[in-house]
Amino acid sequence: MINMVLDAMLKRSSIRGYKPEKLTEKELAVLKKAALSSPTAMNRQDQRFVFATDAALIERLDNEIMEGIVRSGNVEFAERMKARGGKPTYGAPLVVVICSRPAHFSRVDAGIAVENIALAAKSIGLDSVILGMPEGAFSGEEGRAMRELFRFPEGFEFSIAISVGRRATDKEPHEWNEDHVIMI
Ligand SMILES: Cc1cc2nc3c(=O)[nH]c(=O)nc-3n(C[C@H](O)[C@H](O)[C@H](O)COP(=O)(O)O)c2cc1C
Repeated sequence: MINMVLDAMLKRSSIRGYKPEKLTEKELAVLKKAALSSPTAMNRQDQRFVFATDAALIERLDNEIMEGIVRSGNVEFAERMKARGGKPTYGAPLVVVICSRPAHFSRVDAGIAVENIALAAKSIGLDSVILGMPEGAFSGEEGRAMRELFRFPEGFEFSIAISVGRRATDKEPHEWNEDHVIMI
């Protein structure tokens, strides 16, 4: 069991292209369990996991994110995203959006949950990419319509999202620097 978890950790990488094939109910059930079993500070469990599988809704999210990037005036980034297909969720059949009631450690809780989902996905042969980019699409008064479409409860804010699916592209896991561990 420990080896399976480690294996998923070491083999996970951010995949930025997916086949359109839907996930099965069984796969979705595993991912829901991974989300709900993640620990939260004080066991608050004050976050919600929006499992979006509706292609039209995901496309709407992609468009909102792209419009935000263009509005930001970061031309180079906008061009890079367009060159990647203009889909910040990368064509995945599932996007899980984690929203939280803002509190001390709420974003840490969401970060733990998103990695739980990533590792569970990897362990059942799926791939994923964590997404911070949707934040703007859900923020402020302009983001109200998207918060409603994604059924955020009142007072909940975007924390993080993740695309999950069957990979259509490859990417090696990132390299790391052993010096980043400080042994005392
Ligand atoms: C909090 C967070 C937000 C991220 N947001 C995005 C994103 O919006 N779009 C994207 O393509 N990748 C995103 N990533 C993926 C990182 O770029 C990726 O994890 C990093 O380059 C290391 O590569 P690896 O995941 O393949 O090991 C995000 C990762 C984290 C942890």
